[in-house]
Amino acid sequence: MLLEVAKLNTYNGQSHALQDMSLHVGKGEVVALLGRNGMGKSTTLKSIMGLRKPSSGKVLFSGRDITGFDPFKVARAGIGYVPEERRIFPTLNVLDNLMMGVKGGRIDGSDPDAWTIERIFRQFPFMKDRTHQKGAHLSGGEQQMLTIGRTLMAIPSCSWWTSPPKGYRPS
Ligand SMILES: Nc1ncnc2c1ncn2[C@@H]1O[C@H](COP(=O)(O)OP(=O)(O)OP(=O)(O)O)[C@@H](O)[C@H]1O
Ligand SMILES: [Mg+2]
Repeated sequence: MLLEVAKLNTYNGQSHALQDMSLHVGKGEVVALLGRNGMGKSTTLKSIMGLRKPSSGKVLFSGRDITGFDPFKVARAGIGYVPEERRIFPTLNVLDNLMMGVKGGRIDGSDPDAWTIERIFRQFPFMKDRTHQKGAHLSGGEQQMLTIGRTLMAIPSCSWWTSPPKGYRPS
């Protein structure tokens, strides 16, 4: 099991938002969490990511207990988070926003799961023609795609460029 959430309880102030929340995600599986407004979907993701501290329960990632880890440690363990409020870097251009996600390593070409800049551009073609446009000058939906791209670039189980793509100039 890639991700296992077991009987998580999380409070948002006085509100007992998560009450014995459990879910499983296997490798290669896509799991959608559905529910009415205020039901605790965001709280679930924040509790996994360490942005909220659960009062009880467990979060296991690849069998490793990461419950209550600080967000940077959860990210290092291999979990990416796409915040709904996007959190792009508005003064940096599209390419720099993507490069901010890179954690190091080198692509040897043999890993089919590796996310490269080229693969991001294939997935989100609008970015290719607008690499030097500032994040602030993208539409809301374009910013959301950029956030997804940045998060994919950070997946540490894949291997990455240590050097930026050809022609890359920081903003
Ligand atoms: N920072 C906070 N302080 C106090 N209560 C909060 C806070 N954030 C969320 N809550 C409450 O916790 C509960 C769960 O909220 P959460 O944001 O997880 O819901 P959600 O399922 O993501 O909703 P939506 O579909 O509207 O995004 C709600 O009752 C909400 O009002
Ligand atoms: Mg929400």
